[in-house]
Amino acid sequence: MKDASYEKALEAARFLRSQLPEAPEILVVLGSGLGAFADTLERAVAVDYRLIPHLPTSTVVGHHGRQVCGYSGDKCVAAMQGRFHFYEGYSLQQATFYLRVAKLLGIEKVILTNAAGGIDPSLAPGDLMLIEDHINLMAANPLQGLNEERFGPRFPDMTDAYDPAYRALAREESARLGIPLKSGVYAALLGPSYETPAEIRMIRSFGAQAVGMSTVPETIVARHMGMRVLGISCITNSAAGVLDQPINHDEVLKVGKQSTTRLVSLLQAVIARM
Ligand code: HPA
Repeated sequence: MKDASYEKALEAARFLRSQLPEAPEILVVLGSGLGAFADTLERAVAVDYRLIPHLPTSTVVGHHGRQVCGYSGDKCVAAMQGRFHFYEGYSLQQATFYLRVAKLLGIEKVILTNAAGGIDPSLAPGDLMLIEDHINLMAANPLQGLNEERFGPRFPDMTDAYDPAYRALAREESARLGIPLKSGVYAALLGPSYETPAEIRMIRSFGAQAVGMSTVPETIVARHMGMRVLGISCITNSAAGVLDQPINHDEVLKVGKQSTTRLVSLLQAVIARM
């Protein structure tokens, strides 16, 4: 049995290429409440996800559901305003399909952003956190099933999943701009319910500093294809039980939006040197 993911991704990539004046070099994925970067792109062309063959549609409040392609300085960038989550009911293969498309569009550099809960007491809402590494607690893997060799190997290495040179670059640029950048390990759970305080204690003991519901499957798929990944979390809330207060999605979106100016400046500076 053969899956048709490669042919489907090729079809989607051909469609996107026909819509865009130039092939983008970098893919930026914008998490919940973090969509504003796309609005800063110049000479931008937006393509609704619904028009892209085989792409799922985004169902989460705070996610636009379109790809905006344009220029950040002299770099041609494709920005995903909204991603696909496992908790929406998509398979991880569906949720990460857009990365297959990006690769076939010729993109080799990926920036993944997300909204995350801060587990480590040093992380406050509004902080940006460079992702050093991840822990997959989704109990699923997007590479499960037949391997498509044209994308990558059966057993891809995940050492340095988050590109060391990109991490150094993000640190340099954040220091130069005076934008505080924390760093840590990001753990991904399925969601959509937020964690319990007991789960957060467990995740902390595993060695994670932040927690969320995305990014990990995308990194795995990007690394499967040899793409280089930079990951940045926007800490939108303290994780469950860290403070004596409940977590709600509106607050997550609000804090995400408040962090946008710093995130946009950092993204622009990093992209210029990627
Ligand atoms: N937990 C999981 N995902 C999240 C959180 C959280 O506290 N905040 C934003 N996304």
